[in-house]
Amino acid sequence: MKGDTKSFRITPISFLARTTIAIVLLSVGYTLGLFHTSSSKPPPSSSSSSSSSSSPPLSISHVPLQLQTSTNFNCTTLKPNKESLAAYKDLLQFKKQCTKPVPQRQIYETILNRIWDGVSPYTGFPSPATAEHLLPLSSKPRGWGSTTPVFQDLISTVRPKTIIELGTFLGASALHMAQITRNLSLPSTLILCIDDFRTWPGARRLLRSDLPVPYHGDALLLHQFMLGVKNANESHRVLPFPFSTSSALVAFCEWGIYGDLIEVDAGHDFHSAWSDINLAWAVLRPGGVLFGHDYFTKADNMGVRRAVTLFAKVNGLAVRPHGEHWVLSPKPQPSTL
Ligand SMILES: C[S@@+](CC[C@H](N)C(=O)[O-])C[C@H]1O[C@@H](n2cnc3c(N)ncnc32)[C@H](O)[C@@H]1O
Ligand SMILES: *[C@@H]1O[C@H](CO)[C@@H](O)[C@H](O)[C@H]1NC(C)=O
Ligand SMILES: *[C@@H]1O[C@H](CO)[C@@H](O)[C@H](O)[C@H]1NC(C)=O
Ligand SMILES: *[C@@H]1O[C@H](CO)[C@@H](O)[C@H](O)[C@H]1NC(C)=O
Repeated sequence: MKGDTKSFRITPISFLARTTIAIVLLSVGYTLGLFHTSSSKPPPSSSSSSSSSSSPPLSISHVPLQLQTSTNFNCTTLKPNKESLAAYKDLLQFKKQCTKPVPQRQIYETILNRIWDGVSPYTGFPSPATAEHLLPLSSKPRGWGSTTPVFQDLISTVRPKTIIELGTFLGASALHMAQITRNLSLPSTLILCIDDFRTWPGARRLLRSDLPVPYHGDALLLHQFMLGVKNANESHRVLPFPFSTSSALVAFCEWGIYGDLIEVDAGHDFHSAWSDINLAWAVLRPGGVLFGHDYFTKADNMGVRRAVTLFAKVNGLAVRPHGEHWVLSPKPQPSTL
């Protein structure tokens, strides 16, 4: 892994910014429970069943950031030492600078070459052996807020040449975006769909009728998605990228693959969303827009919203709720970063 890693910028910035960063570092530390005083730790040998009775874990992750000022704590006991503070900075450290962008017309080919020896995964798809395991296509694949107005609004404003989606499932939102780009005379916009195509543990119990029967442990989501794309005649530009979001985005950063519009809708816990947002920001073209689903989901104590809010604060961005989605202000041009 090479390329220059720009560390989180604490260069000559205002006192206010420094204070904000300090507060953010503290709150991240608290959220992770790293600043617990020794008295709140259970004794090393205590059984797990009794450890919660006397000293409940410090839980202040729900406290809004601006309330966590020094007046709320005993700073003498809570002050982190130099080493721990240096370690907490790692939590905010993501690569900000990626490889020089590959030209737009080479993105599709670059991906094919890098992961499929240059052959489209749709070639000869579906083979009869695969087809027999897939479900008949429904006219409206299962999705979540996949056709809400945010897609039309952002695509008509940004007019993206490349869209990156994190979390595609059966392709409801991806194919909706494909239709919008067609309608807006952007028929060659690339739509790169990052998903491990395994759904999530337990999804089958909820979504039995939407998903194929697993085949030797394979969820077959990738192939069910591809069938929908093929049927919509979009297989020349709606491309699956079947890896975890973090490994996919790290690869895009190394290969110089950027998006003009990036949608985040994969893992909905704080750490997944935090990582996805930070890694996606690095491969967002200046002037591009990052947005995502489930601003209001209660999952992981509103993990998505906490991640979005923290990211916006650390980077001086505005967050705009849009229906069920969140939208960040456009990525500034490099000179103003
Ligand atoms: C809510 S669904 C996406 C729905 C889709 N955007 C729509 O509107 O129809 C979330 C998807 O994220 C994928 N996913 C979750 N965590 C992931 C990860 N760490 N890496 C790759 N994919 C992930 C799951 O496989 C699932 O298909
Ligand atoms: C804060 O903690 C220190 C060290 O334990 C203690 O001496 C001091 O009295 C405490 N201050 C307050 C306001 O509780
Ligand atoms: C695209 O245009 C067609 C024809 O006007 C319309 O029926 C369809 O709803 C539009 N699709 C979207 C997603 O706006
Ligand atoms: C896809 O293309 C085929 C062959 O040209 C056509 O019959 C079909 O209606 C198209 N489907 C869609 C959804 O546009």
